[in-house]
Amino acid sequence: MDKYEYFSGLPEVGIVPRAPHAGPLLRHVFEQEHGRGGFAGKVSHTYHLYPPTNWLPDETRVLDAFAPDWESPLRPIGGVHHALGVAPAEPARDVYRGMARIVANAGSAMNVTAPRAPMDYFFEHHSASMVFFVHEGRGTLETTFGPIEYRPGDFLIVPKGVTHRFEPAAGPQYFWMYESFAGDPEKSESPTTGRFLTHSASDYRFPRTLDTRNEAGRFEIVSKVERAYTRRVHPTHPFDVIGWRGDYLPYKFAVEDVRPLVADRSHVPPSGHTIFKLPGCYLCVFTVRSVEKEGMWLPFFHRNLDYLETLGYHFGEYFNAGGVVTRGMVTLHPVGLPHGPKPRALQTFLDGVNPGVHNEVAIMADFANPTQVSEYALGLSRRDYMGAWGAYTTDERFTYRPDRLAEARALGERLADARDALRPPDDEGRA
Ligand SMILES: [Fe+2]
Repeated sequence: MDKYEYFSGLPEVGIVPRAPHAGPLLRHVFEQEHGRGGFAGKVSHTYHLYPPTNWLPDETRVLDAFAPDWESPLRPIGGVHHALGVAPAEPARDVYRGMARIVANAGSAMNVTAPRAPMDYFFEHHSASMVFFVHEGRGTLETTFGPIEYRPGDFLIVPKGVTHRFEPAAGPQYFWMYESFAGDPEKSESPTTGRFLTHSASDYRFPRTLDTRNEAGRFEIVSKVERAYTRRVHPTHPFDVIGWRGDYLPYKFAVEDVRPLVADRSHVPPSGHTIFKLPGCYLCVFTVRSVEKEGMWLPFFHRNLDYLETLGYHFGEYFNAGGVVTRGMVTLHPVGLPHGPKPRALQTFLDGVNPGVHNEVAIMADFANPTQVSEYALGLSRRDYMGAWGAYTTDERFTYRPDRLAEARALGERLADARDALRPPDDEGRA
């Protein structure tokens, strides 16, 4: 026994050998490596009661039409904004059989699922690491590395290849799921604001409780590689792990642990709220935060020339949703098409009103061009969304006036040197 306690340079739980591939324990348990980048990237090792290759060879089947909406055909998107209605929970399907693609590019994708049935199998995604956002529902995500309890507002990160199963509690479940094909989601950090904005790695919750199963039976695992779904069957429970070590792990992260960047005098652009970077996508959280005191507190009109923008509405008043978008809906703003404040929001700003707090939580994921939309998503698209900006053609504040140019020129001259009110006193002490 050492005089002092130490922690290992890699996270570890349960019974593990002194180092990977080394020591006498390996003659008694079965080590499995889970790693990225060939054999040189991030890695974890699990220690099993039984070999992970103990499948029943005659039981392996290719599954046709396992998750048809996940493979919904893709087509180019542009020129029209879309607001997608809430995905239906009927017919009742489980998390993956009911998974539906919304948009995708070469590196990443957004999906939605509204499961109503339990999973009677385990799942492994062999083509992507997954980031779930739990919009609705509670339950347990069971994994090789241990169980993770979830509730609304949690992100669940399931790295590529990790065996898992959702055990939902009673009640509706509704998830958005972001796939990262080419690499793992990475924590976003700006070189000028450091490691703790907009969240800290210490906010991540990795499983630490092993729920080891020494069970015999018939355990089905469905794996996905691109469009190929395959079922294999093992005679022992896949969660027969007595210990693990490494940093390639599933984890959860609560949206309330996002501590957003705010600015009194300027509008923080959407990318200032990025929490994860995926290949070809950045994922942001707009959360409850104080409203800018001066300057533009609304989104400015913009056209995103290299990204399609998706926005999932989780909670709140959605000051800029124009009364069109409600909880659970997703908007798609395609590459190049102008958008920005809805008329009612802009009227509020022009009237000098400041609401004080943005009382909302929404998840934005911007996908690099070329990004395509699924036929499934187009089936949820509401016809009235382009009309959400309609007051710009009817409200007299925004429509043609013969004296408009002269008015703007006069204002321009008068306001050219106007400054913020938030400023230090000058040499004579005047504020
Ligand atoms: Fe935008």
